[in-house]
Amino acid sequence: MRELRSICLGILLVLGAFRLTISHEDQPLSKIAIHKAVFALDDNAYIKASPSILGMKGQNSDWLTVEYNSPNPSVGDWIGVFSPSNFSSSTCPAENPRVYPPLLCSAPIKFQYANYSSPQYKSTGKGSLKLQLINQRSDFSFVLFTNGLLNPKVVAVSNKVTFTNPNAPVYPRLAQGKVWNEMTVTWTSGYGINEAEPFVEWGPKGGDRTYSPAGTLTFGRGSMCGAPARTVGWRDPGYIHTGFLRELWPNAMYTYKLGHRLFNGTYIWSSEYQFKASPYPGQDSLQQVIIFGDMGKDEADGSNEYNNFQRGSLNTTRQLIQDLKNIDIVFHIGDICYANGYISQWDQFTAQIEPIASTVPYMIASGNHERDWPGTGSFYGNMDSGGECGTPRTMACSDFV
Ligand SMILES: *[C@@H]1O[C@H](CO)[C@@H](O)[C@H](O)[C@H]1NC(C)=O
Ligand SMILES: *[C@@H]1O[C@H](CO)[C@@H](O)[C@H](O)[C@H]1NC(C)=O
Ligand SMILES: *[C@@H]1O[C@H](CO)[C@@H](O)[C@H](O)[C@H]1NC(C)=O
Ligand SMILES: *[C@@H]1O[C@H](CO)[C@@H](O)[C@H](O)[C@H]1NC(C)=O
Repeated sequence: MRELRSICLGILLVLGAFRLTISHEDQPLSKIAIHKAVFALDDNAYIKASPSILGMKGQNSDWLTVEYNSPNPSVGDWIGVFSPSNFSSSTCPAENPRVYPPLLCSAPIKFQYANYSSPQYKSTGKGSLKLQLINQRSDFSFVLFTNGLLNPKVVAVSNKVTFTNPNAPVYPRLAQGKVWNEMTVTWTSGYGINEAEPFVEWGPKGGDRTYSPAGTLTFGRGSMCGAPARTVGWRDPGYIHTGFLRELWPNAMYTYKLGHRLFNGTYIWSSEYQFKASPYPGQDSLQQVIIFGDMGKDEADGSNEYNNFQRGSLNTTRQLIQDLKNIDIVFHIGDICYANGYISQWDQFTAQIEPIASTVPYMIASGNHERDWPGTGSFYGNMDSGGECGTPRTMACSDFV
């Protein structure tokens, strides 16, 4: 058997401030009145993005450069990143209460001011921006807006950019199962059950492989309780798969890969990940537990920035990744990513925590920013979930409550 480490039980608590219920910071994207955007295309303006294919080495996050030029630059000019790229104004749901066309029905997935890394933009009209994108099932386009965030005008629209396989299985997150020797793995892909069979290939490190089937869930716009989740913040969540890895040997190292078998026989694979199985019940062992709430997300390229909103979440994430060897399980006890009704942010959050959640169980619970919405049975009847009312957080992980 593996060595039993006879060390007294120690618990390392990293406690964030337990202020789950009183923060009212806005989602940065909510600062954009996208529903008021009008088209004012200018033939002498341009915006272009390169490269147009991302993830050539199979990676699910990549950098690109956006270059733009406007004959009438002004201080409030900004760049919006849209995904899918065809962010057309043609299909605004009737329930959108703010209807005065023309209007855009989808918020960008992120944005940045045109002068961010080009301070001379205001005088020259020329600028460029480095952005990091993650694979989130669709292509991207970049739009140069003028006239600020509150009355935006579309000046130019870029070429389209895509990852090599937008549907690829991505961002695995582990959760301790209902019994001690079970681990669940949840991930996201663009493959529904009519296209492919999802499964996990796994086994003890260096040993035989086992194949376990996975379930597939998704949710629609109609299961959102209000705006912006049901209006400009809506984005197709893709498919969320969960597989169950059972009868794990205590303390053993396992490796796993996510797979999809397309019905024409082709296999699509993720990269390989690993985790350590839990100790057996009562085992004399040191278990180091991290517990926090309120982490949020942020963009490494500096976009979506508003009043230093959640900058620190990148520091926290980086620190956890550095300490991963000394962490056995993480509890993120609510207020997970503050998507607040902008569904695209959930993908970005699962990408941010991937190095942690793919390696140790990442257990979550709902906070007010995932759950609260008037008249939906939430403990507080306020609007902190931005209309999500608890559904999109299934994109993050399995629950522990
Ligand atoms: C860049 O644009 C923002 C937003 O309009 C503005 O607040 C800021 O002062 C500008 N920075 C420079 C260097 O012009
Ligand atoms: C964008 O393209 C997708 C895929 O081709 C299509 O399903 C969708 O209806 C289009 N959306 C709009 C608003 O045109
Ligand atoms: C199966 O379908 C995928 C996706 O459409 C395609 O890339 C692949 O080449 C197909 N494989 C075969 C053997 O036809
Ligand atoms: C957080 O990270 C940023 C960027 O690396 C760094 O400048 C800043 O000092 C860090 N903040 C803290 C509190 O460590």
